Formats: sequence, structure tokens, C-alpha cells
Amino acid sequence: MFTQSVEVYQGPEELARAGARRVRQAAAEAAARSGVFSIALAGGSTPRRLYTLMAADPEIREAMPWSRIHFFFGDERHVPPANLESNYRMADEAMFQHLAGERLSIHRVPAEQADASAAAALYGADLERFFTSQRALEGGFPRFDLVLLGMGTDGHTASLFPGTAALGEEEKWVVANWVEKFKAYRITLTLPVLNNASEVIVYVAGAEKAPIIAKVLEPAVDGSTYPVGMIKLRSGHKRWMLDASAASLLAD
Ligand code: 6PG
Repeated sequence: MFTQSVEVYQGPEELARAGARRVRQAAAEAAARSGVFSIALAGGSTPRRLYTLMAADPEIREAMPWSRIHFFFGDERHVPPANLESNYRMADEAMFQHLAGERLSIHRVPAEQADASAAAALYGADLERFFTSQRALEGGFPRFDLVLLGMGTDGHTASLFPGTAALGEEEKWVVANWVEKFKAYRITLTLPVLNNASEVIVYVAGAEKAPIIAKVLEPAVDGSTYPVGMIKLRSGHKRWMLDASAASLLAD
């Protein structure tokens, strides 16, 4: 059973500030409750400004319990961390590099591994060590405090693309997923893990995403024909955070 909310912000900057403030609030709540905050970061380009604000905005930066946060990634391209395509590189450039002096716990996907399945297995083992040590498993799957997800114009999220094998994975926590349109593997958390989170933020900006947003959020339509619509938390809150352009086709 999950609850869902839709928040619409005027533009990308207002969206980024609201997103960074929500991450800060969730981090403070989790750190107070259990001493740690586990978050899976989204890749792509949309969250870059949110990550920048987390380190650059004094009001947010000073309130973040940095040493208690464990940063994971919802997915990663099958490239080394120095590669321009790397989601880790994007988060590092926007946020981690600007947090000198903070003790950071970053669980990077070892996507430099030549074999994508080996990278997925190593990352899965890292997850298992952490979530087992924190006793943060429920139903045999890790329970993230927060998962930040983006969405593509095809309704994919993380690296769960329409028609790809990973969508059917019901046991593994992390898989290497072949994405034909890129002729490449992606390493991605699976639906059982994403749906086990305490909170998911689906963080979307831009008019090109509006048609899918409208279809997935249309009550009469079964949004689960799209991967982002298959995010149905077992027990948690799914928070859509949109800019006005991405929300522009939503019925009033
Ligand atoms: C990735 C992301 C992916 C992303 C969407 C949206 O590795 O690309 O994890 O799921 O969130 O593709 O990407 P943009 O934010 O660049 O539109």
C-alpha cells in the first residue's frame, strides 16, 4: 500500500530548490530516527542542479547530516567513473567535490568492470553489506530511506527501460540490463528494491516529458505500462516533483 502526491513548481530552479529541501528534511528525519540516511541518487541531467544546491546553498548544506548519509546510485552506465556518461561523475562534479572536509560515504557502482554482470554483483554485495549491517531489510530486500528517480520520454526510470529484461526481475537487487537502443548495458536497481523504499521522489522537468506524465498520472489509465508507473511502493510514499512544463498536460 502506498500513498502518492504530485507537487508542481514554477520552473527548474524552484523545482531544484524544493527537491534539495525535501532531501534535507528526509535526511534529518532518518538520521534522527536511525542514525543513518540511505539515499539512491538519480542519474541523467535533471537532478544536477538539485545536487549542486545541496552543497552550494548554505541553508541546505549546513543542515545536512553529511557523515550519516550513505549515497548509493539507482543506476549507472557501463562506463568508468571518469567518463562523461557516468552518473557518478555528474554527482561528483555537482556535489561531492564541493564537500571538502565532510566525511562522505559514497557507494559507487564499480561500472569500470569490463563485465557488466560482475559490476552488478559487486554493487549488490555492497548493498547487502550495508543494509544487513543496518538491519534495514524488509521482505528480504533493502529498504532505502529515499530513492530519487528521473524519467525518460519513454517512461523509463533508473535503467528500467520499456521491454527490457530487468523489468521482470523479482529476486536480484541489482542487474546488468541490456538496452538495445543504446547497444549497451546499464547497471540498475530492480523493481523489488525500488518498491521497497520508504519514499521515492520522481523528479521530472521539461515539456518533452509532459505526455508521459499525463498518461501515467491519468486516473483512468493503468500507468504501469510504463516502468515509472510500475513504481508502486509496498509501504511508502511516491512523491512526484515536477516543473510546470512537465506537468503542463495534467488535467486540472
Ligand atoms: C540515467 C538515469 C535515467 C534518467 C532519465 C532522465 O542513467 O540516465 O538514471 O533514468 O533519470 O533518463 O534523464 P534526464 O534527466 O537527462 O532527462
